Amino acid sequence: MNVCIIGTGYVGLVTGSCFAEFGVQVVCADNDADKVAALQAGVIPIYEPGLERLVERNVREGRLSFTTDTMAAIEASLLVFIAVPTPARPDGGTDLTAVEAVAREIGRALDGYKVIVTKSTVPVGTSAKVGGWIREELERAGKSVRFSVASNPEFLREGAAISDFMRPDRIVIGTADDQATAILKDLYRPLYLIETPIVLTNIETAELTKYAANAFLATKISFINEIANLCEDIGADVHAIARGIGLDRRIGPKFLHAGPGFGGSCFPKDTRSVAHFARERGHSLEIIETVIAVNEAQRQRMVEKIATVLDGDLAGKTIGVLGLSFKPETDDMRDAPSIDIIAGLQARGAKVRAFDPQAMDEASKLLPELVVCADAYDACRDADALVIVTEWNQFRMLNLERIKSMLRRPTIVDLRNVYEPDAMREAGFDYVCVGR
Ligand SMILES: NC(=O)c1ccc[n+]([C@@H]2O[C@H](COP(=O)([O-])OP(=O)(O)OC[C@H]3O[C@@H](n4cnc5c(N)ncnc54)[C@H](O)[C@@H]3O)[C@@H](O)[C@H]2O)c1
Repeated sequence: MNVCIIGTGYVGLVTGSCFAEFGVQVVCADNDADKVAALQAGVIPIYEPGLERLVERNVREGRLSFTTDTMAAIEASLLVFIAVPTPARPDGGTDLTAVEAVAREIGRALDGYKVIVTKSTVPVGTSAKVGGWIREELERAGKSVRFSVASNPEFLREGAAISDFMRPDRIVIGTADDQATAILKDLYRPLYLIETPIVLTNIETAELTKYAANAFLATKISFINEIANLCEDIGADVHAIARGIGLDRRIGPKFLHAGPGFGGSCFPKDTRSVAHFARERGHSLEIIETVIAVNEAQRQRMVEKIATVLDGDLAGKTIGVLGLSFKPETDDMRDAPSIDIIAGLQARGAKVRAFDPQAMDEASKLLPELVVCADAYDACRDADALVIVTEWNQFRMLNLERIKSMLRRPTIVDLRNVYEPDAMREAGFDYVCVGR
């Protein structure tokens, strides 16, 4: 069974290398010639734990290859996955330019029956549009070729993408015909053998399941952040509350960490997209609209929190920041809370020194005034406060004496609650966190 993945980014590259690991013949296509050249030379363009070894092994064993020749990759495959970006438009809707371009390319390349699978996160109705774009291209060329369209949304988390793909909680497959269902079930057979639940449904349901999942997780985050803000007023501890409610199996402990709010390439755009999509159809998704507003306010609240600990005045202050990527174990800076927080600090006259284990290059492009630091201690140098924005493991056991000696005053603002407030105060820090 030959598989082609179009779009070799965080999702496409992980998907392609994991299918190859199952023993499938995979070609990953991308229109970014530099990225393809790097991959062909054995250089992995993103940071994702374990990915380099997986790619190297599957390339060496001849099951995985990379190309810019999308047409040839499509022609050689029974299954064609679309894994290109679906960014937000300024109005919150979803920009389907890349999906349409790929669908039309598929239409031009189609020479026999194939299953076209949308793996990109797309609004309900997009897979049907993909079918329409393919048909238009076939008609234009006077060809009559049968094909199926399916939706197979991806739920992997960056930073744990390979284990998420290899051992997912579930696989969701939306199809409109039995042949596509049978082919996709066959592709996922290795996961079927380890009893991964497979939700087989129609295409529209599969498309909406992805948005419902992300919106629900985002809701948990905004919910606990609102509770954390209340805790700060009344002297309660959100950490204990999260544990107190999370142990209830109906609620669950995940996504109940108070902090600067959600970011990344998925939650912000997907919540906006589903809200926009519903609004266009005359539905107001009140909960999701509020989740988005709470999240945006939380980022500004973090700037206020930092300003307050520095006597309300950030002008001329130096602030050290640890962690820039939207979460640990990734170099992904898309919609990271650090961007708004640092921009907010700089707008009020602060100088920001920062360190991140993987995201420095990308962050410097987005925040040109950022002072790039060599490590966590360098970020503290002559700073009036140290702010932990992303909880990389290496920031969990900092040498506090050394930190204190480097800071101008011993102030730590811990936006991820990685330290214990009492211990930090005992260690002599002016310590502020979220909801404790
Ligand atoms: N990143 C995640 O954690 C994640 C998780 C689940 C779902 N998704 C969804 O998966 C999709 C892809 O996300 P990503 O993070 O992998 O994006 P990405 O930007 O990392 O990768 C997309 C790739 O597609 C390529 N591309 C763009 N247009 C193309 C075209 N016309 N032909 C060939 N290649 C083209 C780009 O060069 C890029 O390499 C999005 O819809 C996203 O919402 C992402």
